[in-house]
Amino acid sequence: MLGSVDRWRTIIEPFRIHSVEPIRLTTVEQRDAALETAGYNLFNLHADDVLIDLLTDSGTGAMSRDQWAAIQHGDESYAGSPSWFAFLESVQALFPFKHVIPTHQGRAAEKILFSVVGGPGRVVPNNTHFDTTRANVEASGATAVDLVIPEGRDPGYIHPFKGNMDVAALDRFLDEHAGNVPIVFVTVTNNSGGGQPVSLENLRAVRAVCDRHSVPLFLDACRFAENAWFIKLREPGQADRSIPDIVREMASLADGMTMSAKKDGLANIGGWLAVNDDALAEQCRNLLILTEGFVTYGGLAGRDLEAIAQGLREVVDEDYLRYRVRSTAYLGEALDAAGVPLVKPFGGHAIYLDARALLPHIPPLEYPGQALAIALYREGGIRGCEIGTVMFGMHPDGSEAPGPMDLVRLAIPRRTYTQSHIDYVIEVVRYVAGRAASLRGVRIVSQPPALRHFTARFASR
Ligand code: F0G
Repeated sequence: MLGSVDRWRTIIEPFRIHSVEPIRLTTVEQRDAALETAGYNLFNLHADDVLIDLLTDSGTGAMSRDQWAAIQHGDESYAGSPSWFAFLESVQALFPFKHVIPTHQGRAAEKILFSVVGGPGRVVPNNTHFDTTRANVEASGATAVDLVIPEGRDPGYIHPFKGNMDVAALDRFLDEHAGNVPIVFVTVTNNSGGGQPVSLENLRAVRAVCDRHSVPLFLDACRFAENAWFIKLREPGQADRSIPDIVREMASLADGMTMSAKKDGLANIGGWLAVNDDALAEQCRNLLILTEGFVTYGGLAGRDLEAIAQGLREVVDEDYLRYRVRSTAYLGEALDAAGVPLVKPFGGHAIYLDARALLPHIPPLEYPGQALAIALYREGGIRGCEIGTVMFGMHPDGSEAPGPMDLVRLAIPRRTYTQSHIDYVIEVVRYVAGRAASLRGVRIVSQPPALRHFTARFASR
């Protein structure tokens, strides 16, 4: 089609740069010293020592001119601020849940929700729990169980909706644990499983199973817009629908949601919990007031609420989503062509390197993902994030086992890096992958009892 935006191969950023931040260039020697100080944990680095920061896409994106302008409208009234009403309207335009409870970020919403519905003896299924979600379930005394489809556990397997829940397994699970499952969760997109989307068809089937067992269904909706874009691209019959319309159908299949606005809210901070149930909302609001703040601001400033309200309008823009998903795939395609093992198909917010496949000589308990992440930082100043045995290998009883996969996630902050930054990443990853056989595993020198990946210290073997 002549007038189509897809006429040209080159993916352009659908924005111009309006204000810039310097990147400090460093040498391998400087980065070696930084690694030593950080205990070989990339979370411990001074961010000035990072060239291309792909640790997370959470809160690290660039806000738009219109979001910065919206911030000027921030009203800091303690109760009933106009910024709260702007936020509420924007949230409910996409997610028309009855009660919206603002929080300072996603995990605060999780903490509140699982404090109410979790507890010893309870079990919470999810396609794949994100680390903070799992930790909040477990902190309440409940057990977190992942029931993604089997294809979702095979890094190289091509499937359009690899984030789907295994509906038959869920059905059996709800039979087996009848009375002990307070809630079923579906994470869109499935971050820990490779940023993979969930189809509407799957959500409808999960909904039907939940109805049969009278268990509420919640969405962990952090990357809802990317999920909706994949539905539009890949799900039969969805190509002509608008993104907001698809999002509203996703919401209509659920009884509530948790959200981190640091992802598809296009904001640097924020989140919310939304529910339809009045009694649950009241219990959650009571906890909110105890831990986050009054019900019309949660842990947020009025200006944050405004930035989110505007971000939610921008994130469903199709030019943005096309660029977002295609530019992430650009990184994946180049690495794939170079023979680097990756999770496929490519997720919306990140490319996941399969460290277990790239480094078969490093057993999972010597943390191949961590070894690869360290090498990418050392060689090129690129900070990725291990999603593997360091993150998921330790269990609440203190035992350790290999995580389901050993991945290194290269998460792409929204609207932040240009194609030449990504070309540089491609060059560095190819270089490191070419020397994979020379990489060595690492050992843990010290670690906390939970969420160890944030603070553990490592040494080489
Ligand atoms: N759920 C999912 C699927 C997430 O990816 C995250 C955060 C959260 C919940 C928690 O939200 O950070 O606002 O408290 N993920 C970030 C990441 C940190 O790097 O993937 P939060």
